Amino acid sequence: MLLGAATSSHQIEGGTFNDWTLWEREGKAPPVGEACRSWEKMEEDVKLLLKVGANAYRFSIEWSRIEVEEGLFKIENLLRYRRFVDRLLEVGITPIITLHHFTNPVWLYTKGSWLNPDTPKIFSRYVDLISRYFQDVKIWITINEPNVYAYRGYVEGSWPPGERSFFKALRVIRNMLRGHSHAYSAIKANVKGAAVGMAHHLRVFTPLGPLAKLPVMLREYLFNFLPLYSDVHGEIPPPVALMERISSRGDFVGINYYTRDRVKFSLRNPFGIEVAPENAWLSSMGWEVYPEGLYMLLKRYNFSRPVIITENGIATEDHDERIRFIAEHLRWIKRSQNEGVNVRGYLYWSLMDNYEWLEGYSAFFGLFTRDRKPKGDINLKKLWREV
Ligand code: GAL
Repeated sequence: MLLGAATSSHQIEGGTFNDWTLWEREGKAPPVGEACRSWEKMEEDVKLLLKVGANAYRFSIEWSRIEVEEGLFKIENLLRYRRFVDRLLEVGITPIITLHHFTNPVWLYTKGSWLNPDTPKIFSRYVDLISRYFQDVKIWITINEPNVYAYRGYVEGSWPPGERSFFKALRVIRNMLRGHSHAYSAIKANVKGAAVGMAHHLRVFTPLGPLAKLPVMLREYLFNFLPLYSDVHGEIPPPVALMERISSRGDFVGINYYTRDRVKFSLRNPFGIEVAPENAWLSSMGWEVYPEGLYMLLKRYNFSRPVIITENGIATEDHDERIRFIAEHLRWIKRSQNEGVNVRGYLYWSLMDNYEWLEGYSAFFGLFTRDRKPKGDINLKKLWREV
């Protein structure tokens, strides 16, 4: 069993310059500042991983650091990640590389980011280069949460580029799935034995009343099922595309799981509206903690593939609560394994407190503080044995 933690470049490195930086400068998100300074301190992050008994680490390579202008690659920065991966391998930690975790280089942003039909090819040229340098990395995540990216940036408009168009969101998802497909082929060609997938954000949707079953079906289909199905079966279903073939075969199912939404029917919104949970376990961000939901999703969406929980975490200032959260989720994972689901890994979000997008530094997901202080004892291997 792979046990470890997950992070992403913009959220921990500091000194990144991408489309989020522009968003921050426009005052639409808190400034990231120096984050956790992982760009300088990556090797210290390895020590943290060892302290919590991790044998796997999921992190992302910041595209804007490598492809500084379109087609112009800064190899020196790539070698910085290379040294980091060497260190992980030396101490027996399995590296899991994410290639796109929400942020885009500014030159791509000015070309329309993922609305641009050329972006899938541009992305795969970049991925081709990266994967040549990391032939000893065997687990790859091309794109993190295309559904969340498209929803926040193109439906809700709270993330860059701040659009509000359902149709644009569908185009963005289509281009991301195409980008995933090209990247999948590039990595497979360069890395012998690579397992390539995506990190899919899945949510449990609970209908409040019989009429709410309709909006819940819509949410389940578009948000949970469609990107994952495309990844696993290599074809993109409507309304995103007409069963367009892509090369992905879903070597594993990557699941990010946090919470469930209780959904009420509404005449004004075909997707219904979310109702605040009552009498429920809530994180400090008000998200309902619902460990059994992970089990439900694992049973429903495993597609008979190996599964990696690529993210699962809680924002809380109470570390004992965090340990309870992890233990509860591990227990449900074990139960799913006993019933035949092939779960191969669990990555806690996040290694240390970091930049939580619109919430800035006010959400505390970390096993460690932002300046790498322990919050209390936790050993993932031991916890896994005990639950
Ligand atoms: C995920 C995302 C992460 C992190 C986490 C906690 O959706 O991939 O970047 O922010 O949520 O909210």
